[in-house]
Amino acid sequence: MRIVKLHTTDSTNDYLKSLAKEENLEEDTVVWALEQTNGRGQMGTKWATEPSKNLTFSVFRKIQQITIDQQFYALMAASLAVKDVLKKLLIKNVAVKWPNDILSDKKKICGILIENVIKKGELNAMVIGVGLNVNQTVWENVPRATSIKTQTGIHFDLQEILNMLLEQFHFYVKMLLDGDLEKIKEDYESFLFRKDKPSTFLNANKEQFVGIIQGVTDQGKLLLLEEDNRINEYDLKELEL
Ligand code: BTN
Repeated sequence: MRIVKLHTTDSTNDYLKSLAKEENLEEDTVVWALEQTNGRGQMGTKWATEPSKNLTFSVFRKIQQITIDQQFYALMAASLAVKDVLKKLLIKNVAVKWPNDILSDKKKICGILIENVIKKGELNAMVIGVGLNVNQTVWENVPRATSIKTQTGIHFDLQEILNMLLEQFHFYVKMLLDGDLEKIKEDYESFLFRKDKPSTFLNANKEQFVGIIQGVTDQGKLLLLEEDNRINEYDLKELEL
């Protein structure tokens, strides 16, 4: 596996996407940066972390291996890999807040952003970007954030955590390629934050409603049981948690 380690880049997702357009990249090529100047999150948000303290990296996967229909499975695989590593490090109360936030003690410790690589007008590959808070302990203007160090009091080596994450990610990708899709979805659903508990949501018109998270669809929509006893599907544009 090739790991491209950079001191600074705008965004490891962007760097990997441009690399993929220029070169015939090997499956699992990783771009890891100690600092991002334009780190991005879901729905156009910013991902800003203290340089050299946290992990910000992206992994390249070709579309032939994981199909576009299975893209949400890649997100679930990455979330499960992060969850397993956090549990190995004895981090408490790990949960995934749908679709891509990993929490510890209800605070965000990791975010994942999957994007497509379009080459010659065709969908060619995906990049799986992970931002994991490792050694940062102070955040300005970021409510409800935490890190491995905040949760354990221990300073960790970034390379060591990266190796653990990549190993665990490969374990789940192998499961995916072996067709063990149900198991991946089941595991992901079993650690969904507030699953089976009534919660308040906002719909696209900013109206509040109560729903109970049941799970997710294969495409990554959230399944909510609502007052009329019906189960409805929502995507990120239709719902705020
Ligand atoms: C989110 O929480 O909305 C997702 C955050 C994803 C951040 C990572 S850091 C590495 C990669 N490069 C980016 O610009 N974003 C992802």
